[in-house]
Amino acid sequence: MCGIFGYVGSNRATPILINGLKALEYRGYDSAGIFVSDCGSVKAVGPVVNLESKIPQGMNGSTGIAHTRWATHGVPSEANAHPHHDKSESIWLVHNGIIENYNELKSEMQAKGINFYSETDTEVLAKLIGTYFDGDLKQAVLSALKQVRGTYGVAVMHDQDASQVVVARMGSPIVIGVGYDGNYISSDPSALLAYTKEVVYLEDGEVAVVTGSACEVESIKGDKIEKTTEIIDWDHTAIQKNGYAHFMLKEIFEAPKVIEDTIRGRVSANGSVKLGGVEAVLPKLKDLERLQIVGCGSAFYAGSVGKYMLKEYANLPVEVELASEYRYTKQIFDKNTALLAVTQSGETADTLASLRLGKEHKVLTLGVVNAVGSTIARETDAGVYNHAGPEIAVASTKAFISQLTVFALLTLLLGKERGVLNEKESRDIAESIVNLPKVLKSVLDESAFIEEVAKKYAKYDNMMLIGRKLHAPIASEGALKIKEVSYIHAEGYAGGELKHGPIALLHDGLPVIALLPQDDVYEKMYSNVEEVKARRAPVLAIANIGDEKIGKLADDVIFTPKTHPILQPIVTSVVLQLLSYYTGVGKGYDVDRPRNLAKSVTVE
Ligand code: AGP
Repeated sequence: MCGIFGYVGSNRATPILINGLKALEYRGYDSAGIFVSDCGSVKAVGPVVNLESKIPQGMNGSTGIAHTRWATHGVPSEANAHPHHDKSESIWLVHNGIIENYNELKSEMQAKGINFYSETDTEVLAKLIGTYFDGDLKQAVLSALKQVRGTYGVAVMHDQDASQVVVARMGSPIVIGVGYDGNYISSDPSALLAYTKEVVYLEDGEVAVVTGSACEVESIKGDKIEKTTEIIDWDHTAIQKNGYAHFMLKEIFEAPKVIEDTIRGRVSANGSVKLGGVEAVLPKLKDLERLQIVGCGSAFYAGSVGKYMLKEYANLPVEVELASEYRYTKQIFDKNTALLAVTQSGETADTLASLRLGKEHKVLTLGVVNAVGSTIARETDAGVYNHAGPEIAVASTKAFISQLTVFALLTLLLGKERGVLNEKESRDIAESIVNLPKVLKSVLDESAFIEEVAKKYAKYDNMMLIGRKLHAPIASEGALKIKEVSYIHAEGYAGGELKHGPIALLHDGLPVIALLPQDDVYEKMYSNVEEVKARRAPVLAIANIGDEKIGKLADDVIFTPKTHPILQPIVTSVVLQLLSYYTGVGKGYDVDRPRNLAKSVTVE
């Protein structure tokens, strides 16, 4: 997804901008560019190092804006790369988001003799600002944005005025970093960490004039707005690989610490649970009649596991919907419905739109969000932060297991509040949660064996994963991980679905990964494995230590420690994450930045 970085201060802007773009690379992009005061613009297709290699000597201006572009309107090319400029080539702009009415605006300006060099909506906005510019850049930006429909995070500057950058936000994040020798601008707080932890988050409809020593914010209507600075609570090393070959591997191996951070101060072995972020709405949750969960991709699968947890252990009716479907289909809201958005980034467009649909209908809105201060975190009525730290790899791993852990905490809390779980049941779950970091450590200790198994299955072009109950969504999530980082076509099914069609696919060249912990559907899953073997398909089983049956049937088995059924999906997920990682690396792919994918899909 596109990235914005800017700087206004007393230092050379160019190296700061390039470093900022490198910190944003993980979000996925296909071209990049910078504009520096008194020095002009440089753009390049491909990685930031291509741009870096084109920067001429003497690009010494002290104010600049930069951008990594993930193509939406127009192919990846230098002409389409940002920054874009107005007719006079004096106003320069970088933009995240989509200007929905750009064609109308473009036609109106073409009718006035203004020509365009790119296919982008962004250039239309730059040209529009130029038509309003009469010496006051902020006013020109405000006038132009009032004509615009759509989403934007923009940074705009004038080539004759190195004292300021004007920024604005509507539906696409912009955060200002308060530095000692200047101020920074980014679309992602993690890119600011090299320079400052003190930040100011812009809200939708806000515009700011950023100078080297100040940041004046007002609404798009012109009302002055006092903002408070916030402190980012993780440090710069969180976005370094720290010796791992890839961010994805590092983030998988963070699993024990992620669980510790997710549960810290929230649960104790005696069964007590405290989720500060939902305390204020606990009475409503206690009497809730229906919970709707929305999310995309892995977040959707986490919500799907949460559904099993909440229904089984809190007696709460739950519906889970893909956010991209939810926002366009009729929803039936009533006073005892709540809407919960699951999202790592807190910026996913479909999830945000679904949340806003719920808010329009005055539904209680909750969030399970990792990115502190993100849009969805700020717009929900209540919620739970994951505290998993920044997740850099495009494929979600640590955030996913943290989401499952939060659902287990929420289930424990509501199960007690709603009188479903007794003291012993609560204690059993709580003890298992507290013990989970140790369990995951023992899974990670098997990584070398899992890597060997991955080599054996990497040769296939297709795979099927099967599981039941809480492991049915894990089969789909595992398939998503495999697709994302190894480009093998993998699909996940509920085990009971095999005979309703998917079994037609089975042959000796299509392996099946069977998820069969020793729970109350183990025998059903064992029968599924027998069905699979009867069709000569290879079987890799993920089973519990002590299971002496499965080894006689499956071709390979990865044994995992047994924990409470509500947490077993987390253990299985770490195995599947390692399997997908080693498969993708074994095939020579860039598992941190898979082709065509972006870390946070902030556009439809
Ligand atoms: C997960 O591996 C994918 N990268 C993707 O499906 C992701 O989970 C989805 O885009 C949702 O992102 P979010 O959690 O930031 O909303």
